[in-house]
Amino acid sequence: YRLLRDALGEDAHVCYAVKSNSNLAILRLLADLGAGFDLVSGGELRRLQAAGVPVEGAVFAGVAKQEWEIEAALQAGILLFNLESEHELPMLAELGRRHDREIRLAVRLNVDVDAQTHEYISTGRRRDKFGISLERAGAVVEALSSSPHLRLCGYHVHLGSLLRRIEPYVLALDRVLEFMDGDAVRRDGVEFYDCGGGFGVSYGDDQGILDVAALGRAIVPRLRERGVTPILEPGRFLIADAGILATRVLGLKESGGHRFVLVDGAMNDLIRPSLYGAEHPILPVTKPVDTGWSSCDIVGPVCESGDFFARNRPFAPVQSGESLAVLAAGAYGASMASNYNTRRRPAEVLVEGAEARLIRRRESFEEMWAQEENP
Ligand code: LLP
Repeated sequence: YRLLRDALGEDAHVCYAVKSNSNLAILRLLADLGAGFDLVSGGELRRLQAAGVPVEGAVFAGVAKQEWEIEAALQAGILLFNLESEHELPMLAELGRRHDREIRLAVRLNVDVDAQTHEYISTGRRRDKFGISLERAGAVVEALSSSPHLRLCGYHVHLGSLLRRIEPYVLALDRVLEFMDGDAVRRDGVEFYDCGGGFGVSYGDDQGILDVAALGRAIVPRLRERGVTPILEPGRFLIADAGILATRVLGLKESGGHRFVLVDGAMNDLIRPSLYGAEHPILPVTKPVDTGWSSCDIVGPVCESGDFFARNRPFAPVQSGESLAVLAAGAYGASMASNYNTRRRPAEVLVEGAEARLIRRRESFEEMWAQEENP
């Protein structure tokens, strides 16, 4: 958090992406640091309210928001909405009229920049569903500006997640500034530029994290000279390395020349390896031995071949009962977990120094079917 502050300046508005890890205790920690929040649903707003944290600094993104979500966020008094799709414009104008409020909007521009990340988390290309294309944006800004209940107060771009290079952010800003230069109505009242999130962490590889200091140097002066305040929406950068998934070896097995380490964690607990081919570092919790390493698949009990944490990875010899730590699981781990195979989602524990506190107890079986009916 401090790294980002130092890089983007004290006035930059850091909005933690709630989706990356939405545990109430984590939201409180981020609020204590002074973060605002990046929301993508009415449910996330309810979470912030349940956590009792201020929402005045929250931005609400989302490619298709529902009326109740917008209304709830209006009533809560969030900072602004990101307008990502034209169809929301009449609804926003009508809600503004009904509540006799001026709704503050940042237009999310689709600047057609390929962030070269995994296909499923790439959001800034023309073919992606997000944002308003530069061809349409001029007309949208004009329509917005002529509505008495809507106010343009900035632009938003989010190119994707897990970016390791600053160039896509710089190119996106070039395109946004060029768009703003096209007409006075596109600049009037613009206070914010939200460069999105996506700041990459290393997951233990040699590419390292996104150089946020270089990012700050490349974009902040250009915003300052126009009197525009940066907003950023980091999720992973703040939380990924803070979390581990603890799992236990249940057994070992050889088949087809493959060595399998069977563990009690699975894709329902951490879906990133299965969904994005993500490679999280994994370590035995006890001191790693440096002899006898061999290639293995570390897999869970779920009934899918896609249920793995690692494949063909050199790994230390381990025994049944040993604990393993799947590292960098703090972002998009618990928040994407499910009950698939009727598995209880794991407990979540917040650790500081030698102190550990439960922040989500493990589910009970009954909780898993509490909403179900037998007609
Ligand atoms: N802002 C917007 C508008 C977003 O859509 C996202 C993430 C973020 C900010 C935060 O991105 P971050 O800084 O965490 O990269 N489940 C995937 C990542 C999905 C990201 C979705 N949007 C994964 O585990 O890699």
